[in-house]
Amino acid sequence: MSRWEHRHIIDLSTFSKDDYTTVLELANRFKALPNSGSRKLPALQGRLVTTLFFEPSTRTRSSFELAAKRLSADVQSFSPSTSSLSKGETAIDTALTYIAMGSDLLIIRHSSTNVPEQLANYLEENDEKVSILNAGDGIHSHPSQALLDLYTLTKYFNPINPLPDAIKGKNIVIVGDILHSRVARSNIWALTACEANVVLCGPSTLLPDEFEKFVDKPPPGQKLDPIHKRGQIIIKRSIKDAFSDADAIMTLRLQKERMRENLLTDLDQYHHDYGITHSNLKWCTKPVPILHPGPVNRGIEISSSVLEDNSISLINEQVKNGIPVRMALIYLLATQN
Ligand code: NCD
Repeated sequence: MSRWEHRHIIDLSTFSKDDYTTVLELANRFKALPNSGSRKLPALQGRLVTTLFFEPSTRTRSSFELAAKRLSADVQSFSPSTSSLSKGETAIDTALTYIAMGSDLLIIRHSSTNVPEQLANYLEENDEKVSILNAGDGIHSHPSQALLDLYTLTKYFNPINPLPDAIKGKNIVIVGDILHSRVARSNIWALTACEANVVLCGPSTLLPDEFEKFVDKPPPGQKLDPIHKRGQIIIKRSIKDAFSDADAIMTLRLQKERMRENLLTDLDQYHHDYGITHSNLKWCTKPVPILHPGPVNRGIEISSSVLEDNSISLINEQVKNGIPVRMALIYLLATQN
């Protein structure tokens, strides 16, 4: 395993090929542990992991907490509704309170882009050896979701050796509300880094043309892209075109809470044009697996019959794989402080 250099995980634009390999290798080792009986590792005994979710979550938060417990860390969690947020405390001051209690790792979700990054910068400036793991900030980034999606895909294409090369040259379609999706953005960084081609598909209101250049230059504040050769990003407006060469398809929820205006008026038309249904899947020229990060809106971005079709749906695998992938991330961050 190569050296791990990141104290924080904010987004995947800073990940090298070695970083992806390290996470996938470690996740695969954790995945091989028994799923029942004695399944705790003593690795993080005495460490304190805090989950600070300022935004709702079902699977991400419980998956992180289970992952930390499987590594024997102490886990402390924060609930906005019962906290001093209602008394006017800021997110950063809330985080600092948990750091004062001795937290080694803060896992943060916030509806505003950049809250995890601001906190990480503050900690660096004040020489605090505490790690920040971004569990989703605004529309910006959701690294653990993209890494578990990556693991699910590499495991699907190469069950014995699920490493970045397993998806090299594959066409991975992401369809739906890409504009408001932090999952899509993080997946674009991860999949192109492994030299997969990302085919983005959606109407122009949910998928502006600029996305074709999404990885062309590193985000502000970052000098270089650590990846020398990335896969392509291709935009297709119809699923007929997008699905014809697809090797895997990922769909996304319409993220209405992040839309500033009502961008879609006819949900039945959207389901017809962009929904994952058995009828739309006929455009694929081979059987392809279907992914969805959840939460799912049945009958809008995906039909119930595809969702429940275990011959093609990897959605439960994504949930299962979230635990070993998050164990890997927590382990890598908590053991270097
Ligand atoms: C996603 C999120 O919160 O960004 N869900 C998740 O973490 N599994 C996607 C969504 O909200 O639609």
